[in-house]
Amino acid sequence: MQRREFLRATLASVGGFSVACGSGEPRAAVPAPELFPQSVASGDPQPDAVILWTRVETGDDGDVEVELELYRDVELRQRAQWDRAPRVLATLDHDHCVKVRAAGLEADTVYYYRFVAEVDGELKASQIGRTRTAPAVDADRPVRFAFVACQDYGGRYYNGYAHLAQQPELDFFVHLGDYIYETAGDAGFQQGSEGREVVFEDTAGVLSVDRTGDGGFEAARSLDNYRQLYRLFRSDAALQRVHEQLPMLAIWDDHEFSDDCWGATATYQDGRVDETDVQRRSNANLAWFEYMPVDYAGDPSFEYDSAVAPPDDIRIWRDFRFGRHVHLVLTDLRSRRSDHLVPEDAYPGAVVLTQAQLEGSGGVPDDAGAYVEDIATFAGGIYRDALVQAADAAGYPSDRVSGAIAASWINDVVAELGAPAAIDEAMLATLPLGYAWANLMKGSLWSRIGSRYLVARDAFARLAAVRWQDSGGASEQAMGDAQEQWFLDTMQGSDATWKVWGNEFCLMPLQIDLRLLSVPPSFQRVFHINVDDWNGMGNRRDALLRVLSDVPGVVAITGDIHAFFAGTPAVRDDPSRSVLEFVTSSISSTTFQRLLQNQVEDDPVLSMVSGASQLAGAIRDLLQLTDGPNPHLAHADVTSHGYAVVEADGLALQVTFHAHAEDVVAVQHYDDPGLDGLFATTQFRVDAGTKFLQQRFGDTWKRWDPTTQTWIA
Ligand SMILES: [Fe+2]
Repeated sequence: MQRREFLRATLASVGGFSVACGSGEPRAAVPAPELFPQSVASGDPQPDAVILWTRVETGDDGDVEVELELYRDVELRQRAQWDRAPRVLATLDHDHCVKVRAAGLEADTVYYYRFVAEVDGELKASQIGRTRTAPAVDADRPVRFAFVACQDYGGRYYNGYAHLAQQPELDFFVHLGDYIYETAGDAGFQQGSEGREVVFEDTAGVLSVDRTGDGGFEAARSLDNYRQLYRLFRSDAALQRVHEQLPMLAIWDDHEFSDDCWGATATYQDGRVDETDVQRRSNANLAWFEYMPVDYAGDPSFEYDSAVAPPDDIRIWRDFRFGRHVHLVLTDLRSRRSDHLVPEDAYPGAVVLTQAQLEGSGGVPDDAGAYVEDIATFAGGIYRDALVQAADAAGYPSDRVSGAIAASWINDVVAELGAPAAIDEAMLATLPLGYAWANLMKGSLWSRIGSRYLVARDAFARLAAVRWQDSGGASEQAMGDAQEQWFLDTMQGSDATWKVWGNEFCLMPLQIDLRLLSVPPSFQRVFHINVDDWNGMGNRRDALLRVLSDVPGVVAITGDIHAFFAGTPAVRDDPSRSVLEFVTSSISSTTFQRLLQNQVEDDPVLSMVSGASQLAGAIRDLLQLTDGPNPHLAHADVTSHGYAVVEADGLALQVTFHAHAEDVVAVQHYDDPGLDGLFATTQFRVDAGTKFLQQRFGDTWKRWDPTTQTWIA
């Protein structure tokens, strides 16, 4: 066997099907699900090929030869004859995972498969999986698929998957990322329960994260840590049911490696230390490659090579055609994205845009503040000394007290210290005006608030514009040049009715306007809730949307944010240049509203703001405020879990959200006859040739009107 065949048998081609000889019975093999504890899975269906996956666990480290059997019928009577035996060696090197790329298949055809291994002199068979090849490119038939995201495990059950497994006649499902969560016991959002928790076995390989000395949590770092997560998550019975029935098309988001990551860099420590860890990223990517039934359209013989450093180790962006009407285009928005624009360790008082920079980029805005140009020399250095003293007391590195510093920051600090006297009005009037990090709502050093979450929109836009200009667009890389070119070429070049973009994180703006609310004056602004997503890359998003809005039938399907949203994201200064977006909530991970409430409570600044927690609890109303900042946002459900189903043909694309309440996640309902009753549905539609988002209300469909922010008949 070739080296690659220790994980994959590539291009084993079917030569035909023969009816089992003898009495028409399937080949004798004892069903042995215990030998295949993660069951079977299939993925990346094409008209003539599909990837079939399993993992063998014999209890020892030895190699096991596994053979794939492919059938036309669930009774296992019509068995595929191969050009060469689709055998592959399950080895310790790949955690005993195997994949076979079965080729030479018929388009739009259901196949059944199982893996058989000889153990202790006996043939033992895996669970029987069902899969389906893609319809031929010219097939004029509706395509029906589900999309899902975010399946945190500890204390949380996959009732959404149990329900999805009951959906009739799906062609496949798309996983938009957060298939695993790399942390165990992150108090911000994770609570395990008995029998349903993550406890890392390779304790020496774990990354211990303790930001504030409160005990912290553990995160996967070693290859075994990541593999264990896949083993554990895929031991779930509901997830197995779905994998046993439907091929998956998967991309990753952040948690397949690390929360809010960019490239090989984690962000747990909010800038306290450099968290770049190429080996850790490589471990995460290899485990993903081993456990996910993914193919490589461009290079079916691809084998993960740990010697190649990320991000060049693996390319997960790829596209698939499903007949005439659906072209599914999957992107990778994590491997090559740029860092967040506001450093987590930005010193709030430091000036980020000087008066000259503001003047050169649209003028000095009203909320710009006076600043001293050199804190070391200003007023003989007395304020520098005060700021250093305050930094020492707060545990900040005092070398941050240098260069241009906002006068309001200085005056706040000296007011707290009691000396020296504040910079007075007469002096303030002589100082230049600029933006400090505090203008973006950075309230403390080492914080995600004001950096990745809750960032002042307008100040952020000013900074982003300057950085975009200065860097020639490098400040907001989402895909990297090669992928972006491929993405736009593929979308523009497609003749499918619907170009469905499998997109990891939210495309449409999610902003809240606190200007008229009774919050402290510094909070009376418009905020981005999250700039870890496309909202942190508004210039890049505008550039893409300018192209995509001219392509008919573009629909983004999105995960990541743990809420259901539907809307029409558009170029910021031209709402007519829009596409459609449907965001599915999490299968199980803590809902958007709950996460926001947790973040507010955990943040040293926000937790002191009276009413902040109540505002987080009213986030849906804030997002959908009439005349508010999100006229494109037609539907928002921030407290449910679930999944979405798409049905697309030549006339329309319909999306149905299947949602259950968040408390349901704590109880396992997989075989509950009342499972269906736990779900509520919301239905949307887009007619081919239009960009109107419609929602079903009883027997009538109404169209979202962003101008009046109402559904109209
Ligand atoms: Fe997630």
